[in-house]
Amino acid sequence: MSTYDIEGVKQSLLEKVATSDIPREVLKAPEIRELYAAIGSLPPEERGAFGKQVNEVKLAVEAAIEARESELESADVAPLDITAQWDVNTKQPELLPTENGTQHPLTKELEEVVDIFTRMGFDAIESRQIDDDHHMFGALNFPEDHPARDGYDTFRTEEGFIPPAHTSTMQHRILKDGKAKLEAGGHIAAVSYGRVFRNEDVDATHEHTFYQCEGVFVSKDATLGQMLGTLRSFFETYYGQALRVKTQPAYFPFVEPGLEFAIEKPAAIGGKPGEWLEMLGCGMIHPNVLKEAGIDPNEYRGFAWGGGIERLVMLKYGIEDLRHFESAKLAFLRKFAS
Ligand code: PHE
Repeated sequence: MSTYDIEGVKQSLLEKVATSDIPREVLKAPEIRELYAAIGSLPPEERGAFGKQVNEVKLAVEAAIEARESELESADVAPLDITAQWDVNTKQPELLPTENGTQHPLTKELEEVVDIFTRMGFDAIESRQIDDDHHMFGALNFPEDHPARDGYDTFRTEEGFIPPAHTSTMQHRILKDGKAKLEAGGHIAAVSYGRVFRNEDVDATHEHTFYQCEGVFVSKDATLGQMLGTLRSFFETYYGQALRVKTQPAYFPFVEPGLEFAIEKPAAIGGKPGEWLEMLGCGMIHPNVLKEAGIDPNEYRGFAWGGGIERLVMLKYGIEDLRHFESAKLAFLRKFAS
């Protein structure tokens, strides 16, 4: 019959299911595709028997997935009695005792990121989750109908509002609010952080909903060198070690020059020399963006940067799939409990 060690393939698939945090992904394993492909490559008289075996493997894997899913779901949590009654007048509901709850890993890491910047002297403000075309594009020097707008895969509500596709929507507000400070001889230093939304197909490295943190600095004599120093210092603090960093040119309508900032993946977490990871976009704030906020670009200069939080956290903890964060899997979340 076939040269396939079908029993061996089955065992290895079952083992994958038993140790996976997203067991359903095993259905997409190449071994399964190969088994189905193998059916067609057999002489017709062998196909029926082999096909039956393949089907049995699939059923066994599916049963194991269901078992594993319910195991992950119930991992040492007492089941909730959904029929329980509680009287809010006499007893507070205790469906989720606070002593068992923990911060979500993204919240925890976002707080750490924002803390590092506030220790450097940046004010921190949360970004908005619903915004408008002006803050998303117009105030950021995206001309009407400019193709760069398409790069942001923006959602729009029927009323024409925009769930922001980047935290740069906060730049115009930060600049307008900080103008008085500049005129009083000070500078603007703020980070904005929060949830952003893009019309993306979800996979291991893309989510339609994710988090960003953005920085804005303006003074009479801000330089690109200061920006690079600020960013290097942030990354070295966050990862707790010295890092090699580099930039390469990039285009964002709201900065000139625009750059991508990359770090070399540290050896301590499996990086090889020359393995660069692009972490964020940055640059000197475009004169039109300053002007739009009433700040004279001949008198003041600024820099800005913005990047995703998930990527930072995935690198720090070696998380391979972005979807874990929103999966609500207790086994995953518990790894970050403290
Ligand atoms: N907003 C850009 C993005 O999401 C990143 C960026 C922020 C670039 C600030 C330059 C300055 O892709």
